[in-house]
Amino acid sequence: MQSANYHHIIKVHDRYFTLYIDRETIHARLTEMARNIDADYAGLNPKFLVVLNGSFIFAADLLRLLRLDADLSFIKLSSYAGTTTTGHVSMQLGINEPLKDRHVIVVEDIIDTGLTLHSFVPILWEQEPASVKVVSLLVKPTALRCDVRADYHGFDIPEHFVVGYGLDYDGRGRNLEDIFRVVPDGFDLPDAV
Ligand code: IMP
Ligand code: MG
Repeated sequence: MQSANYHHIIKVHDRYFTLYIDRETIHARLTEMARNIDADYAGLNPKFLVVLNGSFIFAADLLRLLRLDADLSFIKLSSYAGTTTTGHVSMQLGINEPLKDRHVIVVEDIIDTGLTLHSFVPILWEQEPASVKVVSLLVKPTALRCDVRADYHGFDIPEHFVVGYGLDYDGRGRNLEDIFRVVPDGFDLPDAV
């Protein structure tokens, strides 16, 4: 088998994951993103819509790196993309303040197929915001199945399943400080891990 650094292997539920993007790398990238957002939204008092649950850690870190005056709301979406190619989204926590004429920035943890955003962004436009942009920590470009894009994003990643830094595997792993990627089936690991 390939050599590996076992300090960087963890188990979540039944699967092994290896360290993929460490906290220092994440922080450095978020700092760059924050400077870009600061420059683009100077004087505009944008409204961040943080999509729960996965984005909570990313949003907390990113927003603390911003220098501009911003406010935020949390929203929760459920995606029912299983049986249809278009995808449907229901909003579980509503937007409690009006978005009319506001500059809205949707904060996502990861864009995979893009179905979630593809059905959610049109719902936002119904409220007549001044603009809508998307910031996503991760994007899986080869998994994209619809015409959505992140205006700001942290990292492009291949179609590997990842956990940590807010992202979960079946409810677990959100509180890991780094991002880990799944070890593929058939990749042997010693019992001692
Ligand atoms: P999309 O609608 O396919 O873009 O789905 C995005 C959602 O799928 C994200 O907000 C995550 O909740 C979930 N997701 C996609 N890929 C991963 C992953 O690798 N790890 C954890 N969650 C993921
Ligand atoms: Mg999510």
